[in-house]
Parts: sequence; C-alpha cells; structure tokens
Amino acid sequence: MSEAALQRSNDMLEKARLDAEQRFIARTPQSRTEFEAACEHLPGGNTRSVIHFDPYPVRILRAEGARLHDADGHSYTDFLGEYSAGLYGHSDPHIIAAVKAALDDGIVFGGPNLHEIELAGILCSRFASLEKVRFTNSGTEANLMALGAARAHTGRDKILVMEGAYHGGVLYMAPYAARVNVPFDYVYGVYNNLERTLAAAKGQEHEIAAILLEPMAGGGGGIVSEPAFLQGLRDFADEHGIVLIFDEVMTSRMGRGGLQGELGVTPDMTTLGKYLGGGLTFGAFGGRGDIMHVFDPRNPDAVPHAGTFNNNVLSMTAGIAGLKHVFTEDVADAQCQRGNAFRDRLNAIIAARGATAQVKGYGTILVIHFQKSPINNPYDGVHTRPEARSLFHLEMLERGFYLAARGYMSLSLALTDTDLDDFCTAFDGFFEQFGDLIDEV
Ligand SMILES: Cc1ncc(COP(=O)(O)O)c(C=O)c1O
Repeated sequence: MSEAALQRSNDMLEKARLDAEQRFIARTPQSRTEFEAACEHLPGGNTRSVIHFDPYPVRILRAEGARLHDADGHSYTDFLGEYSAGLYGHSDPHIIAAVKAALDDGIVFGGPNLHEIELAGILCSRFASLEKVRFTNSGTEANLMALGAARAHTGRDKILVMEGAYHGGVLYMAPYAARVNVPFDYVYGVYNNLERTLAAAKGQEHEIAAILLEPMAGGGGGIVSEPAFLQGLRDFADEHGIVLIFDEVMTSRMGRGGLQGELGVTPDMTTLGKYLGGGLTFGAFGGRGDIMHVFDPRNPDAVPHAGTFNNNVLSMTAGIAGLKHVFTEDVADAQCQRGNAFRDRLNAIIAARGATAQVKGYGTILVIHFQKSPINNPYDGVHTRPEARSLFHLEMLERGFYLAARGYMSLSLALTDTDLDDFCTAFDGFFEQFGDLIDEV
C-alpha cells in the first residue's frame, strides 16, 4: 500500500507498521548501505532466507553474552538465540576455551579423532532413543541421512511427513518450497490429527519407510504435539514395520532427554543439531543399533555416509564442553521450566490487556502469534495478520530486543532474569500502545 493510499485507508495497524518502518530506516543508515552492497553479489543481499526481513535486516557486527551490536551502533538483547543454535550465548567461556584448545591441536585431520567418541557417548547417554549415532554438518543433513537409513533398513521408499513441517532447507513441506525439496516420494499427514494422517497413509502402509516429524513443530509455530498423536504414530509404525523418526534438531534442549523424554514417546531414530555443537556447524542422527548398522563400513553391503567435516574437531570439542560443563542434565531441566514460566508470564500479560495474541511453544523455544483462535497445526496460524507480526518485530527492535520477524524466540543461557523482566515490560508496553489495533483475519 502506498503512503497516499494509507492516508485514505482506515487501516490503523498498517499505518502504525509503516511509521515503525520509517523510524527503523531513519536509525539504520549503515545497515541499509551494507544491505545495498550485499545485493551486488548475494541475491537479495542474503545467503540465508530466514534472516531477511523488510525493508532490510540490521547488520550485526559483533556479539557477546546475550547482546548483539549492529553496524549503526545499536545494541539488542538477543531473544532469537540463533534459532536455538545459540543456547550458550555468544561467548560462553567453556565453549571458547574448548575451541581455542582444539585450534592449538590442529584442524582437519582427515582421520578419526578422540572427540567424536566422547560426544557420541554423551549423546547416547542423554537421549533414550540413541544406541548409535553419526555426525553431520547440519540438521538438514541429519534428516536426509536418517531418511536414507530408514529406506536402506526397510527397503521401502515412501516418507510420511506432516503438511507445513520444516526439516531443513530441502525438506520444507510447504507448497512453495516443493521445487527445492529433495524429491522423496512423500505422503502428507496433518500435524496433531491422527485420523487424517492415518487416512492419508491408508493402503500404503507397506511402502512407507519412515515417519518424520517434530515433537513440537518449531518453525511451524511452536506447536507441541499431543501425546496421543505421537503415541498413535508410534503404534502405527510398530504395526507396519515403519521407522519412526523424531526431528529434535530444535527440541532436544527441552529437558535432559529432549522433548521425547518430556512427552514420553520414544522414536526409533532421532535427529539433532543446533546448540549440540556448542554453537558451531553441527548435526547428528542416530537410533536403534540394527537400523544404524546399515552404515557399518565393515559390512560388505554397508551404505555410505559421507561428509568431509562430519567429525570436525571444533564442533566436536565445543559440543562436549557445552554438554559436560554448561548444559548439564539438571540445567536442561531447569531451563525448560524457566522457558515455560516465561511463556506463561507473556500469556498473562496478553490476557490482562485482552489482546489478540498468544504465545505458543515449550521450554526455551517460544513463538508469538497475533490471533486468539486455536493453533494446533502449522496451518492454523493463518489468522495472524502479517502487519501485526511486522509491527511487533520493528517495535521490539526499537525497544532493544532482537527476535525473528515471524515472532520466534529461543532463550539462551546468557539471558539474565533482568533481561526477561525487561522483555516483559517492553512486551506489555507494546500491547498497551497497539493492542487495540490488532485483530485477526
Ligand atoms: C526442526 C528442524 N529440523 C531441521 C533443521 C535444519 O537444521 P540446519 O539449519 O542445521 O540444516 C531445522 C533448522 O531450523 C529445524 O528447525
């Protein structure tokens, strides 16, 4: 909508958003210059679609603890937490020391090292479903390899996924991503709807190699799976010899054993990523020994699992340091409770203001939606007006809080209780000022 059209319009929400955008542009000239320079060699000035937002993102120069500093001299308290990979904050001393020590011993060995043994042992002792594990360079790759393992193990091809699910850049189950997706033979279920999911699979039970889903749809809006849905899929997988894979790339931080531990359903395989490499490039997949056996290179019929940097010493050592010294099992449980309490506090603020919003999520991963209608699967979020999301994002940036443009937040260990209090004050201030303008579609 042009500014002139806006003047004529009654859309106070879009007017407020445009105002916030004008102020954003006025206070970020250097970020704008950098963005224009970036556009010369990067499409849209970007090499990771999700971190773009309109009119252009702030350019981050450096970070420490829970603070980010942009090219225009502004500081932000970081509530994005690098989409959950930044659990340790930006300068945890254990992580920094581990990486420095690893650098001192040399990098890129081209052979097995000691660190991979230790990290594999820690992961298998933490997550109930892991007997054997392998490392990758990203969560996307972990999911791809887990699907490959299930296909090799079962000799079947089809993959049951949930509509709207996100499992990585080439595994995004939204129609507009279809062209960049790996072309598996997908069967589409509906998150939190067992009846429709089983109906979609009907007649193909013995062609399906794997069911892949998140126990909480993270990118899909922080929607926790109903335990009966997960248990129903568990039973269905058992009945038909299908490999049940939980993508815990985001949710493994939710309590000592991941969200599978909290919800009490154990998959055959689990995929991991994000913070488990200490904030460095990381992914892992693993599960039942008989399934993972397909990769044992001592077998003449083994299938390959490649990846130059799979056991890179920086991610391995940072991952070990984080799990041994920082994100211990007790800390994992406590952080999960801390996140749930923070979510409840934000929802109480919304309720007190009578605002059209809700905060979904579990533990330290939270997503704000600007609608009251229930959200049980990724497509239920359509009642949120994009203008409301954008206004909230721009206003929170102005108030000094960094979070994803789509309302996603993940809390790092570096955030203090005062940071959470300050966020609540800003959050309440936002709804005091704009709450009345927000309605749902
Ligand atoms: C649930 C889930 N699976 C997989 C991935 C992909 O991980 P990566 O970005 O490390 O490839 C993500 C990333 O956000 C994710 O949220």
